[in-house]
Amino acid sequence: MKIKNICCLGAGYVGGPTMSVIALKCPEIKVTVVDLNTERILAWNEENLEKLPVYEPGLAEVVREARGRNLFFSTEVDSAIEAADMIFIAVNTPTKTYGEGKGMAADLKFVELCARQIARIAKNDKIIVEKSTLPVRTAQTLQTILDHTGNGVKFEVLSNPEFLAEGTAINDLLNADRVLIGGNQTESDQKAIQALVDIYAHWLSPKQILTTNVWSSELSKLTANAFLAQRISSINALSALCEVTEADVDEVAAAIGTDSRIGSKFLKASVGFGGSCFQKDILNLVYLCRYFNLPEVASYWEQIIILNDYQKYRFAKNIICTLFNTVSGKKITFLGWAFKKDTNDTRESAAIYVAEHLIEDGAEIHVYDPKVSEEKIKADMRYLWELKGISEEKIKSKLNQIFVYKTAVEALDKAHAVAVLTEWDEFKTYDWKTVYSKMYKPAFVFDGRNILDSKKLTAIGFQVKGIGKDI
Ligand code: NAD
Ligand code: UGA
Repeated sequence: MKIKNICCLGAGYVGGPTMSVIALKCPEIKVTVVDLNTERILAWNEENLEKLPVYEPGLAEVVREARGRNLFFSTEVDSAIEAADMIFIAVNTPTKTYGEGKGMAADLKFVELCARQIARIAKNDKIIVEKSTLPVRTAQTLQTILDHTGNGVKFEVLSNPEFLAEGTAINDLLNADRVLIGGNQTESDQKAIQALVDIYAHWLSPKQILTTNVWSSELSKLTANAFLAQRISSINALSALCEVTEADVDEVAAAIGTDSRIGSKFLKASVGFGGSCFQKDILNLVYLCRYFNLPEVASYWEQIIILNDYQKYRFAKNIICTLFNTVSGKKITFLGWAFKKDTNDTRESAAIYVAEHLIEDGAEIHVYDPKVSEEKIKADMRYLWELKGISEEKIKSKLNQIFVYKTAVEALDKAHAVAVLTEWDEFKTYDWKTVYSKMYKPAFVFDGRNILDSKKLTAIGFQVKGIGKDI
């Protein structure tokens, strides 16, 4: 079966870059990425590639080459569904904020709506590919919805989770460690699997394309994220021990990372992991374990989240305690707001939670991030406070404690303390002597990413506190 026409539902951080790369590598396939969000689609169609809705190194070049050739962004969902032989579902699957499983389970309403829409529109057989991260056994739900349309159309449902990380999405897609495709054992499913394998085979070797049963594929995605996040929480837990024992967490990480069984990646201690997925996927895993009556397994994985919350809180508390037990009326400059460098994504960024603690203590938060706008920063805080049921009057007053700048120089002027929340490379290149001269003394630096040269800063006169370091 040769695929000629692909549609992707969801033009977000996954749908956009993933489909751009498929279109780039498979010029004979027409790829249409659709979304309900008109603004987002307009931005994907922006002439000025700097205005694409997702910032990813290398993405603009890929879009420049494929857009208009065989890559299209559109809000015409129905016609794109109708024309496609293969449909990727790459819509958001956030944590439920209401009802059964609130705060834990994945909210599958967007995915379910996609399935119902496909079922309603489809007039010929189609392969449906789960690209979104989903709880294990969701393929069964999709198949059930799709099979009850009564229009005789046959659907094969495959799982093809995405492993790209933001900030390195294009490289991750072009040089994937592996692509995972899960499907059933029936003959028609095997043909569908092969059709998807053929797409990735345009640029990946057979060794990089793994095929499994559909449930293993769905569960592998949650497992991969749980293992990755577990390493961060493990090193962050030890960072607290380092701070009271004069061990240095970066030295400990380097020492254990040379053991090839442990490996060196994902051992960077930090203010806590953020991003749209680690927390939601682990909560989802915990929920599933409880659902299947495995409370010990659930508690084991839940500890990753508990520790991550502790790490963010610990960082904020450390700032307050160091600044003589109050930050009321003090100017705390945040360098970075994105959840990691090289992305404009701020979902679940540690910065949001650290800011919340400090604002609660009366601080003024002055933010500079090279890729995040004032509007986004304020929307992030508003969303958090609204979820917590804070009154509109209080939200407005708290928002007045946040100031956002277009340059770091302005943000740092007359600050009492600097907190590094994101590991943007440019922060390392600043003229820290000048920064020091313009700050209140004692001038504090809280390096939540351990990226600055603490010896150099200390020599200038700064009081420096890193993560997992007794400086
Ligand atoms: P996102 O919020 O950036 O994008 C999702 C898009 O889907 C939104 O633009 C939304 O408007 C659109 N949408 C929702 N319902 C729709 C519908 N019925 N029809 C058309 N469009 C619809 O989310 P994302 O970060 O791209 O994540 C998507 C999925 O991929 C999630 O399940 C996530 O867990 C998973 N994932 C994300 C990443 C990542 O790095 N962000 C990596 C791997 C996997
Ligand atoms: C993560 C996974 O790495 C991807 O494989 C996965 O596809 C994706 O989640 C997803 O499912 O959404 P992402 O969240 O984009 O990707 O970025 P990561 O590089 O994993 O970083 C996540 C967070 O952990 C960031 O806040 C980062 O700063 C932090 N981190 C990462 C650390 O604190 N220490 C580390 O050693 C590594």
